[in-house]
Amino acid sequence: METSKAIKLKVNGKQLELLAAPNSTLLEILRNNGHVEVKCGCEKGDCGACAVILDGEAVDSCLTLAWIADGSEVQTVKGIGTEATPHPLQTAFIEEGSVQCGYCIPGIIVAAKVLLDENPDPTDSDIRVALSGNLCRCTGYTRIFSAIHKAAQVMREGAQKNG
Ligand code: FES
Ligand code: FES
Repeated sequence: METSKAIKLKVNGKQLELLAAPNSTLLEILRNNGHVEVKCGCEKGDCGACAVILDGEAVDSCLTLAWIADGSEVQTVKGIGTEATPHPLQTAFIEEGSVQCGYCIPGIIVAAKVLLDENPDPTDSDIRVALSGNLCRCTGYTRIFSAIHKAAQVMREGAQKNG
């Protein structure tokens, strides 16, 4: 039987070496190593609370084996922006009042960041598709959509200014 091995992950720009059993998920090893901003919800791919960016793609970390992620780059909601230098999405979610209990928000910000990186001017329908794996039980999504549109606009204006 295979035993645990050390895997290498770059998490929010920091190189880490973490011990993972063959059946450990990326969610488990991130949370066990202090990344509790990655939320544990259903653990079966239904809710999206555990979403992280793995080599540029939004994935459910509860469905990703840690060994598969060996050598990869991971970004969590904490790596997207800080309190001092928030990402436009994080600012817009606060300004639009898009957060209620907040449990779904780390995964939703992650999914929205990947969307805006690929599509700077998404329609409601584009947002619906991008968030199709993320459940929010509190907000009814309306203010989440308005925050994503607002962040997209701020980012487009920033890109225009920077030429
Ligand atoms: S905890 Fe991963 S999708 Fe719900
Ligand atoms: S804000 Fe509570 S689940 Fe989304």
